[in-house]
Amino acid sequence: MDKISPRNFVSSELLYKQLFHPILSRDDGIDAEQLTDIALKSLKNISLYRRWPGISYLLTQLSKELQCQDKKLEQTIFGCNFRNPIGLAAGFDKNGIAASIWNNFGFGFAEIGTVTWYPQIGNPKPRLFRLSQEKAALNRMGFNNDGAMTMRKVLEKQNIELPGSRETIIGINLGKSKITPLDQAEEDYALSLEMLSIYADYIVINVSSPNTPGLRKLQDSKKLRRLIQKLRKSKNCPPLLVKIAPDLEDKEIDEVAEVVFEEGLAGIIAVNTSLNRLGLENRLISNTGKLLGEEKGGLSGRPLCNRALQIIKRLRLKVGNELPLIGVGGIDSPQSSWERIAAGASLIQIYTGWIFEGPALVPKILKGLIQQLDLHGFNNISEAIGSEAPWIQ
Ligand SMILES: Cc1cc2nc3c(=O)[nH]c(=O)nc-3n(C[C@H](O)[C@H](O)[C@H](O)COP(=O)(O)O)c2cc1C
Repeated sequence: MDKISPRNFVSSELLYKQLFHPILSRDDGIDAEQLTDIALKSLKNISLYRRWPGISYLLTQLSKELQCQDKKLEQTIFGCNFRNPIGLAAGFDKNGIAASIWNNFGFGFAEIGTVTWYPQIGNPKPRLFRLSQEKAALNRMGFNNDGAMTMRKVLEKQNIELPGSRETIIGINLGKSKITPLDQAEEDYALSLEMLSIYADYIVINVSSPNTPGLRKLQDSKKLRRLIQKLRKSKNCPPLLVKIAPDLEDKEIDEVAEVVFEEGLAGIIAVNTSLNRLGLENRLISNTGKLLGEEKGGLSGRPLCNRALQIIKRLRLKVGNELPLIGVGGIDSPQSSWERIAAGASLIQIYTGWIFEGPALVPKILKGLIQQLDLHGFNNISEAIGSEAPWIQ
């Protein structure tokens, strides 16, 4: 096939800005969930037919534009070789439909899910709202997903290679089905784990989503310990991580850290969306006519940045450099990424910032990180983790 010349190849950044800026810069207009669904439908087909010449060519072009390869960004954490420290956070690809192509978007890893054992439709719509001015979002999706069994079929259909023999690192984020009572949660998580572990580089125990009644109670030390112990008994259990909420008190954060550490888990992901309105209680949600303080759901994006950073600092104090931390929440620039890593995160994830800024955010962050490594005289990103090295302008 002929090479596309720069003149007829429209950069994804330009395309994204032209197509989506008018939509993303206002709260109303096209519904946020509808927009996500349109994107996911295209990604599903691209992923299924990724080996077809035309599609494979497009993906190669995408990789050229969005991937940023550099030895300095590579590290091995809980036995996985990460090409770079930026991952797609859970919740965007809930059913794993694009699992085999996230590396083409420049990500060093992607977390699919949250998936539950039983398929479920989630909460009534509308349930996802843009807060454009604040570069934030409110969601109360409620784990809408097709269930663990379907996710397995979706991954099989993509002919995705198994961990270790593929380029992409894939984490699978597990939640509790809504219909399963809290005291039977362990079995519910375990069934999903057994169904999907073969495809997972790592598994996340999600006990922090605010939109499943009672779920966050599983962060209580005793319940969490029991859940971990149950999941560890699964055959060929991949590295296990726990994802925590930003609304925990310091004491509770310490307790979770203790349990995770004592149980020898692979790490902690901090943080999920917040029930706290973070100073935006009186912000009007134009789609519903209510104030943010009156709406149910979890807040994500820029307003979450400081709280998420504080929690990484707290966890680092508690567990030192012995437990890998994945920082997520409000990251939307090279500087916020660097600060999270310097505070102790080995890896970071993005979601809301990626939607607002577009796919070009990934290489922008990676280039920014390389620049900071050079300015500080670090040879590898691992030297920056928890170094408290400041962002240099
Ligand atoms: C629409 C939406 C859906 C989400 N769904 C999930 C989910 O299913 N499981 C989960 O662990 N986190 C979920 N999250 C939380 C993100 O993974 C992330 O922890 C949070 O949004 C903070 O990162 P951000 O500020 O970069 O968005 C969701 C976030 C959004 C905005």
